[in-house]
Formats: sequence, structure tokens, C-alpha cells
Amino acid sequence: LAQYSDFVETAYLIIHGELPNAKQRRHFGDLLRLHSPVHSAMDHLFEGFPLGSHPMAILSALLNSLGCYYPHLATNRVQEDLANFEEASAIAISKVRTIAAMSYRKSRGLPYIYPKRTLPYCENFLHMMFSQPYEDYVCTPEVAQALNLFLLLHADHEQNCSTSTVRMVGSSAANMFTSISAGISALSGPLHGGANTAVMGMLQAIHDEGDDGTRFIAAAKSGSKSNRLMGFGHAVYKNFDPRARIIGEACDIVLKRLGIDDPLLHIAKTLEQAALKDDYFVSRKLYPNVDFYSGIIMRALGIPMNMFTTMFAIGRTPGYISNWREVASNPKGRIYRPRQIYVGATKRDYVPMVQRH
Ligand code: SDX
Repeated sequence: LAQYSDFVETAYLIIHGELPNAKQRRHFGDLLRLHSPVHSAMDHLFEGFPLGSHPMAILSALLNSLGCYYPHLATNRVQEDLANFEEASAIAISKVRTIAAMSYRKSRGLPYIYPKRTLPYCENFLHMMFSQPYEDYVCTPEVAQALNLFLLLHADHEQNCSTSTVRMVGSSAANMFTSISAGISALSGPLHGGANTAVMGMLQAIHDEGDDGTRFIAAAKSGSKSNRLMGFGHAVYKNFDPRARIIGEACDIVLKRLGIDDPLLHIAKTLEQAALKDDYFVSRKLYPNVDFYSGIIMRALGIPMNMFTTMFAIGRTPGYISNWREVASNPKGRIYRPRQIYVGATKRDYVPMVQRH
């Protein structure tokens, strides 16, 4: 898929289980273009956020609000919501991108740029991000290809923290928009989708200190969660995350094509080599994950660092949608209720206030 496909085609595959034929691909693209604008009243929601609001907080809130603008798609009556799945999923995939671009424009005090129905998915996103009212952004094929690759590599990934959150919320018969909103909240954590931003912060700090990464590796070996080598390790991959390898290779190609020599890429490679020779990481099977190099590509595309996790959310939306439908359409589905081993206090009598010390 990374070699031959693009994000929209991969999204179709993840949602429908098969690659689209030409007619299906055309129809899916038409739906995404049709739903690219957001309801004009949504502008007021943006106005309510203080400057500096994190784009992921905005994205989660506004994805949830889609159910208010499209109540017929978010009835919380599973059969009805499943009957409208095609429209709801196209709205989610198309509008998550528009909302992300609008949150960027708002954060820069720039006017919103309306989507163009003539543009493909990625080109339209970059248009909404970087065009000006007086001048259109010109997207090169290399940039569009790099963004497609980034998004499709993030499109789905088993029962990761945020996808499991979507399933948990969906198991209560909550609608797709609400469930995806919960997933986006889970994704924002620095140990999950927030890691791509944390990686770039780490690389920038190493660059600014003129460090060769030794200090960060030493701190990461302390074992404390707050000092971890961001972009390394994985809950299930105990070897190289295949996505990290593809993105790492793409970094060289994209930056060369764009004529960019990013010192952070050299630092990342030095850090990777040092960690891969260090027994602490090798013995714990800690290798680069999808987040280790992804920030380098996004930086090359001009995406600001505080939008990196939002880009992950755009890419992961097809996976959230597909998992929501799997839960919603399970005829034997039950509400999720993780088992627990209670280790708290045993029976205790109520102590009146006067006797408490
Ligand atoms: C994503 O699940 C998915 O699929 C997620 C994802 C997706 O596509 O949805 O792939 C996307 O979230 C990728 C991961 C992005 N996060 C980071 O890069 C943050 C840094 N990584 C870690 O915080 C950590 O590796 C996790 C959160 C990814 C995994 O955590 P686990 O499963 O709890 O790891 P673990 O505790 O089993 O680690 C085992 C050991 C521990 O040390 P010991 O207690 O054995 O001494 O390895 C250590 C950990 O302290 N360790 C690290 C480390 N990751 C684990 N030590 C230093 N740096 C790290 N990055």
C-alpha cells in the first residue's frame, strides 16, 4: 500500500475490506469532496477557543459536535446509525481534515480557506492550510505523495490505545462521531499519538544544546516514564516498526526532492544508531516506532509541530470508523466492561466526622 496506494484508497480498503474498483473509488472521492466544507455555524465554535488552544482538544470537541449538526447520523440508535454509515463515515474522514486546517488557521489568526471540490484529499488539505485569500498554495506532486504516505501509514493499527477507546465508547451504542472524538482524546497523550511531537521536541533540544544525544539516552535508561526516548519502543512491536522503516526511508527521498537539509534528521539517525547498539534498548527490544521519523516529514511539508498529532488523527480516522462499525454491527455485541482485581480496603464502618483526625 505504501508503494502503490494513496490515503483515500487505503481508507476505502480499511472501511470496506477490499480495494475499490474505479467506480467505487470515484464515488468515494465524490462523497469526500461533497462533505469537505463544515457547517458555517461551526465557525462560532472555533471563536470560543482561546488562542493557543491545542488543535487536538479542538479536534476532539468539534468531531463530537458533528452529531449536533447531523443529528440524523448520530441518533445513538445503532441500526439507524449503521443505515447511514456511508454518509457518516465520509463526513468524518472529510471533515476531520477541514476542522484540522481550520484550527491551524485560527491559531495563526488567519482567515479560513474554503475547500476546493476540484482538489484531491491531500492537496485540498494543504490548500486549506496554506493558501491565502489572494494567492493559492501550489502543491507539488512530491509533497502530496509524502502526505498520502504519512496518512496511509497511520490509517489503522490493531487495538492501540485510541482505537480501543473508540470501541469502548461505541460498545455503549454511542454514535460514530462521539466514539471517534473519544479516540482522538486518547490519541493526544504523549505516550501515544503525542509522541511524534515529543520526538521533535527531543531532537530540537539535542540540536539546541549541541548534544550528540548521549544525555537523552542516559536519561531514557533511568526507566522513568517522563524521560523515555520518545519514538522508541512499542506495546506490541518488539522489533523494528515496519512503518518507521518506510517513513525513515521516505525522509531521505522527500527532503532531497524538496532540497531540505534538516539537521534534526541527522540527529535522529545518530540517536537511532546509538540506541540500537545500547544493551538497555536492545535487551528490552526497543526500536524506532512510527513516530520517530514522522515529525521530520511533516516539518518538511511545513506542518507546524503542534499539528503533528492532529495529522496522526486524520490518518487514523478510517481505522476508528471501521472499528466503530465492527462493534456497532456485532449482533452479539455487549457493552465493554473490563474485569478488575480489587485490591482496596475490605469492609469498614462509617466514622462520624467528630471521630476523624
Ligand atoms: C504509538 O499501540 C499502537 O499500535 C500505537 C501506535 C499506533 O499506530 O496506534 O503504534 C502509535 O503510540 C507508537 C508509540 C509512541 N510512543 C512513544 O514513542 C513514547 C515512548 N515509548 C514508550 O513510552 C513505550 O515504549 C510505549 C508506551 C510505546 C510502550 O510502553 P509499554 O508497552 O508500557 O512498554 P514496556 O513498559 O513494556 O517497556 C518495557 C521496558 C520498561 O523498562 P523495564 O521496566 O523493563 O526496566 O522498556 C522500557 C520500560 O521502562 N521502555 C523504555 C521506552 N519504552 C519502554 N525506556 C526508554 N525509552 C522508551 N521509549
